[in-house]
Amino acid sequence: MGIIFSEKTKEFHLYNDQISYLMKIMRNGQMGQLYFGKRIPQKDNYDYLTENTYRPVSAFVYENEYSFSLEHLKQEYPSYGTTDFRMPAVEVSQQNGSRITNFQYVSHKIYPGKPALEGLPATYTQADAEADTLEILLRDELLGVELTLLYTIFQNENAIARSARFQNNGDVDYQLTTAMSLSLDLPDDDYEWIQFSGAWGRERYVKSRRLQQGIQSVGSTRGASGHFHNPFVVLKRPQADEFQGEVMGFSLVYSGNFLAQAEVDTFHVTRMMIGIHPAGFSWCLKPGGSFQTPEAVLVYSDGGMNAMSQTFHRLYRTRLARGVWRDKERPILLNNWEATYFNFTEEKLLAIAKTAKEAGVELFVLDDGWFSTRCGETSGLGDWWPNTERLPNGVQGLSEKIEALGLKFGLWFELEMVNKDSELYRSHPDWILRTPDRSVSHGRKQYVLDFSRKEVVDYIYIMTAKILRESKISYVKWDMNRNITECYSTAYEACQQGEIFHRYILGLYDLYERLTSEFPHILFESCASGGGRFDPGLLYYAPQAWTSDDTDAVERLKIQYGTSYAYPLSSMGAHVSITPNHQLGRSTPLKMRGDVACFGAFGYELDLAQLSAEELEEVKQQIRFVKTYRHMIHTGSFYRLLSPFEGNITAWMVVSEDQKHAIVAYFKVLNDANCEYRRIRLKGLKEEICYRVTDEYAQSDDFYGSELMQVGLITTDSSAGQPLGEGKYGELCTDFWSRMVLLDAVD
Ligand code: DGJ
Repeated sequence: MGIIFSEKTKEFHLYNDQISYLMKIMRNGQMGQLYFGKRIPQKDNYDYLTENTYRPVSAFVYENEYSFSLEHLKQEYPSYGTTDFRMPAVEVSQQNGSRITNFQYVSHKIYPGKPALEGLPATYTQADAEADTLEILLRDELLGVELTLLYTIFQNENAIARSARFQNNGDVDYQLTTAMSLSLDLPDDDYEWIQFSGAWGRERYVKSRRLQQGIQSVGSTRGASGHFHNPFVVLKRPQADEFQGEVMGFSLVYSGNFLAQAEVDTFHVTRMMIGIHPAGFSWCLKPGGSFQTPEAVLVYSDGGMNAMSQTFHRLYRTRLARGVWRDKERPILLNNWEATYFNFTEEKLLAIAKTAKEAGVELFVLDDGWFSTRCGETSGLGDWWPNTERLPNGVQGLSEKIEALGLKFGLWFELEMVNKDSELYRSHPDWILRTPDRSVSHGRKQYVLDFSRKEVVDYIYIMTAKILRESKISYVKWDMNRNITECYSTAYEACQQGEIFHRYILGLYDLYERLTSEFPHILFESCASGGGRFDPGLLYYAPQAWTSDDTDAVERLKIQYGTSYAYPLSSMGAHVSITPNHQLGRSTPLKMRGDVACFGAFGYELDLAQLSAEELEEVKQQIRFVKTYRHMIHTGSFYRLLSPFEGNITAWMVVSEDQKHAIVAYFKVLNDANCEYRRIRLKGLKEEICYRVTDEYAQSDDFYGSELMQVGLITTDSSAGQPLGEGKYGELCTDFWSRMVLLDAVD
């Protein structure tokens, strides 16, 4: 790994064993992009990578010359209007009304390690040798504004982290109206664009299309990364698939408004960018003021989509998530939400917890409804003290009783919100985000606290910390159930109102930082009406997130499969719930529900006392399984084998770090009659190792890794021509059928 700068050619080469990233200081002093992809050798110069031939109708930078037009040049952090007409990475609105800028190279620094980004989540290194960083300082002389482009290349991952920092050294205000985290011009458009989109209950579905001339984008303007699109997109060569071919992933470490965009120009150049959504954004750069963009992470794979995902998994699990819970086995929890909703008493909770303990559950989580007057959606948010009618001895008393049962105790909060019917709102009606003299919209009968104001965040911190100090709390579920409307803060000047969405997120991160630092032993799980804020920004503070409110096992196949493209299994909260399922009314076997959920941060979302004795035995078996395999599931390499978006059968597998063990999960949604013979070629095994292959239905057999990867695992079941009830899997093979296959190296 290294970063080379050639004084002669003004070229930078960032490289590790696998990838190269090449840039150049162009003739006009701005930064040009030369190459990003698989590692190429270091050469004396890369002049051949700059193509800038004359084109009719272009505009040219230098008088009486037709040789230099930014319209044709691949750039690093482009601006609009000086011969480049594409969407810019940066736009600065100036006092005379101009938006033209010219950020030219001044100097650069190369150093080992990676800097933290003030107030923002970011990937990190534990030792300087893990990464090298390049900071390129550019300046617009006319404005006196400096722009620093930050690049970190990791030694052992095909990943580059990027961000940009602005500093106003001039003597007047400027409005920064666009400041992307990453912009990358690629020389062609032969890509499929893949986005992870959906809605509440169907988050992160995989959607793809060929890039076309023009702009394609996804984003959020909701004040949260959102259910609808994820701040993560992929460019994949059309012939690449899960196992081979060239793929690039673009991920934004941020939880607020974002834009991910590809613009294909008329010469088939693709400009990729990702960062804070420019819609509604502006930042007033006052003299002496600065602005740091969030971090974007760029991953390259020439081993297909799975290899890209595995890079994100390792990086986000071990160098984005922090704290004691980063590497610890996650407790098996039981959450009371779907068991009781708002309708509970302490007695009822203790009864649920007792059965949970008997089954082997490790953590009991009390969800919404435990505080002040909160017995439904209309009141109480903002008043974080216990409802002593429901919990006579408060949270403290309940937490002690839960611990006395031998369980850990966890608690739900929704700290960013307030109901009008609350003490907090009555005392501070001006603490919500709203535009003066206009009506304010509600979502779920609640309003958004103005987290851009420090005094608001301080107040919430004090209340929350008091409860966390007083009670025996080991886990916090941090929910957020509506998006921001009428975004405006009375605490800021008119010219700063474009900052409020971002300042809100900075306030949120500040609160997370304070609470996670003061209570390092607490496991935080983020949530936003299910998976409405499942993003890398929050993984920095909370190493797991509630993946979706939809707990139906069939739906979860798609949700967890889509989520796995960027996020590790350890980050995906996944619970077994009751049937008929509360979101869909579908009944699936307990086995399938457990088999899907164990590929995540596992738990239950039901009253186990409602189950039959037989089902309870099955639950105990599931818990034993998870306790045995959770470490391997969370730290191993995950391979998607068959996609739920493409057919009736889904399959995936996890291979342990030492490649001696693996679990293959196979899900058939609907049974089929007289179907074809089936086999799946497994991945990630060692060819020469002989594995004992065991499943819950049949005698074990031994196969070499090479056989399992070349010939495949036979998955033909009794639906291949046999009458129902006969054959290898007998009557067990019906609709919603799942099979877990264990592979263990034979000594
Ligand atoms: C939405 C969450 O996604 C649910 O799990 C639950 O915590 C409710 N909020 C409680 O209001």
